[in-house]
Amino acid sequence: MKEQKFDYGMIGLGTMGRNLVYNMSDHGYTVIGFDKNNAQVETLKKEVSNENIFATSNLDEFLKALKTPKVIMMLVPAGKIVDEVIHELKPFLSENDLLIDCGNSHFTDTNTRNEQLAKSTIHFMGIGVSGGESGARYGPSIMPGGPKDTYARVASMLESIAAKVNNEPCVTWLGPGSAGHYVKMVHNGIEYGLMQIIAETYHLLKNFGNLNNDELYHIFSKWNKGLLKSFLIEITADIFLQKDELSNNSLVDMILDSAKQKGTGGWASKDAIDLQVPIPVIDIAVAMRDMSALKEERETAIGILAGSDIKLTDEKTELIAMSEQALYFAMITVYAQGMALLQAASQKYEYGLKPEHIAKIWRGGCIIRAALLEDIHTAFSQEPTLPNLMTSKSLAEKLHHSEKGIRYVIREAVDNGIPVPAMMMSLAYYDSYRSEWLPANLLQAQRDYFGAHTYQRIDRDGIFHTQWNRNSR
Ligand code: 6PG
Repeated sequence: MKEQKFDYGMIGLGTMGRNLVYNMSDHGYTVIGFDKNNAQVETLKKEVSNENIFATSNLDEFLKALKTPKVIMMLVPAGKIVDEVIHELKPFLSENDLLIDCGNSHFTDTNTRNEQLAKSTIHFMGIGVSGGESGARYGPSIMPGGPKDTYARVASMLESIAAKVNNEPCVTWLGPGSAGHYVKMVHNGIEYGLMQIIAETYHLLKNFGNLNNDELYHIFSKWNKGLLKSFLIEITADIFLQKDELSNNSLVDMILDSAKQKGTGGWASKDAIDLQVPIPVIDIAVAMRDMSALKEERETAIGILAGSDIKLTDEKTELIAMSEQALYFAMITVYAQGMALLQAASQKYEYGLKPEHIAKIWRGGCIIRAALLEDIHTAFSQEPTLPNLMTSKSLAEKLHHSEKGIRYVIREAVDNGIPVPAMMMSLAYYDSYRSEWLPANLLQAQRDYFGAHTYQRIDRDGIFHTQWNRNSR
């Protein structure tokens, strides 16, 4: 390597790290990559010969090649590896050096690292990056958290590498501390919810509509030109067209129906439970991945548990039209739940999040990008303190217009024994939220009956307890 000093360092040259390096170099930045695994270093060297980029598995060489103060990004698997990297780097970092964790770290880990590094003179940021391999390469959505003045040091680089929508970069400072990683966690929760409602729609169209993969390709492609336009609908259409190289079948039909997960969707659910924010579609999406993994048990249960049999529909056209509406309806409720969680978290953790900024940077680059985010962005720009996205006038109208579809889809699914729990949760969330009265008075009575937990009354203030009469035997 000639005597060159690099603008940025990247630790972790896996798919995401490597592609971010290429993206940064395309925008005129010089980047040196480091990975302990020499194979990753060699892959990078093979893929590019560009004097803006260099890679090494020698930490000393890496550190010496960086301009000062150093700016080092990390894209390594979340968890203890991040701590190990920080621990290894720390003795070699000095005042104003900046470490950026770009992985899917849990926000509480980011809080801990912030606290630990705050005792030193090293600066730290936690940044969520979404968009997979091609996002990293050609423009991801970037969700930065940390001190605002520290963000200013990297703002123009991040703006240049981020995806653009209407020439606006899909990145902005979101808030202090772990705000960026929190927003990324909720992004992933929404991702789980959207994937599950799409999967349920596929289940119904395939098994009740009797549609083949070519037909499904055409339906999803058409949907992607309308209200449902989004990255996940687009890739789903592509998936139906993909042929298997090992058999003559469609690849999707050869894939085991047992889904894996790295856990970020579950993190969102867990924190929502802690903050007492209902996000049932996201919760059930996590549960359905777990259910899918019980493949052997499901295979046994089919011989034991009776249920409705599927009677194929004669009304395919109606089913397809209603499914489009149902998906649109459910999609709105998933974003509404994610946004509600973000708003509660913002208060609890003092992030100062702005929902309109989040909707704006999710419009491009990330896995949950969708035309609908334009409407969500407008809704929150007009009413920044909306308690729930569903109550914005324009979204409420959209829900109302697609409500018939989701009720139809759920009815048909129930009658035919096809599980569509995320669709059900979506509608139940809507119906509960629009219920002036819920039967929680009875829950309160039960709690007071068995545990003297007290209750409140509708006609006067105060806390009450009753000695309930034990009548029935
Ligand atoms: C993204 C994705 C990315 C990753 C998920 C997969 O925004 O680019 O969300 O972060 O694909 O973590 O998550 P699971 O393995 O949990 O499905």
